[in-house]
Amino acid sequence: MIKRIFEGLISPMGRVGVLIAALSLFSLAAYGIYTTQQPPDQPIEFRHDVHVKLGVQCLYCHPGALRGPSSGVPTQNKCWGCHQQIEKTFTSERLAVLVEYVERNEPIVWVPVAQVPDFVHFTHRPHVAAGLNCETCHGDVSEMEIYENPQVLNMGWCLTCHKERTEDNVQNNPNDDPHISELLHEKRTKLMDCGTCHY
Ligand code: HEC
Ligand code: HEC
Ligand code: HEC
Ligand code: HEC
Ligand code: HEC
Repeated sequence: MIKRIFEGLISPMGRVGVLIAALSLFSLAAYGIYTTQQPPDQPIEFRHDVHVKLGVQCLYCHPGALRGPSSGVPTQNKCWGCHQQIEKTFTSERLAVLVEYVERNEPIVWVPVAQVPDFVHFTHRPHVAAGLNCETCHGDVSEMEIYENPQVLNMGWCLTCHKERTEDNVQNNPNDDPHISELLHEKRTKLMDCGTCHY
């Protein structure tokens, strides 16, 4: 009986079964992580869905995603520049907090959510330059009330994408030019190298 199970496991269909079992365990684990990661209480209930649907661009509030190492989150000046012109600002309960911050001239300290530890080197620039959308990594923010990460931002997540992206490149190398192949392999080595993200 045990031998039969073992034979089943090593046959191609058996392997698929094992893969499916492993994947469902993995997604269960991921679900566990997901449900324990509720968005934190922010000083103001800033709604991404409302603002993104109004047509305000991500980069208007997070300009650093193109420029510097970090995107930054907006200060009260940015909110107030717009909100002082909106009647609802002075009547809405949700906005009373913003008005108070402005009156006290106190900086709003947002709770970070999209963050990797200090020993990891991440910059937006090469990612945006490679044509990745904000949504690829941050999810469909236009449907989020309070921002939360769509996945855990761990090493496996970084490496999976780096591997996939370079695999596409290697496979799409049009005329098998050995010089291009070499460059693509160098790129892959770089993107998988410990020193690229840890130094
Ligand atoms: C390749 C994935 C990826 C893409 C694409 C991406 N981000 Fe990020 N983003 C991250 C990661 C990872 C962090 C955490 C960085 C850290 O802790 O240093 C982050 C952090 C942030 C933060 C938190 C504040 C900060 O600067 O650390 C904001 C805001 C942000 N991203 C906005 C954006 C916007 C806007 C875009 C599109 C222009 C974008 N991101 C595209 C992965 C991505
Ligand atoms: C480009 C203009 C603009 C900017 C910048 C802006 N908002 Fe808004 N915000 C709006 C508009 C327009 C509404 C919708 C008002 C309505 O429903 O009539 C809104 C709605 C809101 C609401 C929901 C109010 C309610 O009662 O439903 C909150 C809270 C809010 N904004 C907070 C902020 C904060 C905090 C900032 C800064 C991080 C900010 N806004 C930046 C234009 C802006
Ligand atoms: C009107 C301003 C505004 C716009 C437009 C906006 N955001 Fe934000 N964003 C904020 C504020 C304020 C915070 C901090 C509060 C929070 O995390 O909910 C924030 C937080 C974030 C964070 C987490 C930052 C951290 O410190 O962990 C990410 C990621 C992010 N935004 C991505 C986006 C993306 C992607 C878009 C476009 C689809 C976008 N935002 C559009 C104001 C804005
Ligand atoms: C969705 C895909 C994706 C994810 C997720 C992703 N990356 Fe990247 N990363 C890329 C691409 C594409 C490039 C640009 C490759 C190129 O230059 O052609 C890149 C480039 C980089 C570079 C620059 C390498 C160089 O050439 O110097 C660093 C550093 C980096 N990523 C770190 C990270 C870290 C850290 C994470 C996770 C927190 C991460 N990336 C997550 C796709 C991704
Ligand atoms: C593309 C970016 C990237 C590359 C390449 C990378 N790492 Fe990481 N690493 C991360 C991120 C992001 C974290 C933090 C999140 C986590 O703990 O998974 C991390 C965390 C770690 C940690 C701490 C784990 C923990 O449990 O806190 C160690 C150790 C580590 N990496 C070692 C390595 C080694 C060794 C290599 C080369 C084989 C490597 N990393 C390559 C992105 C990367």
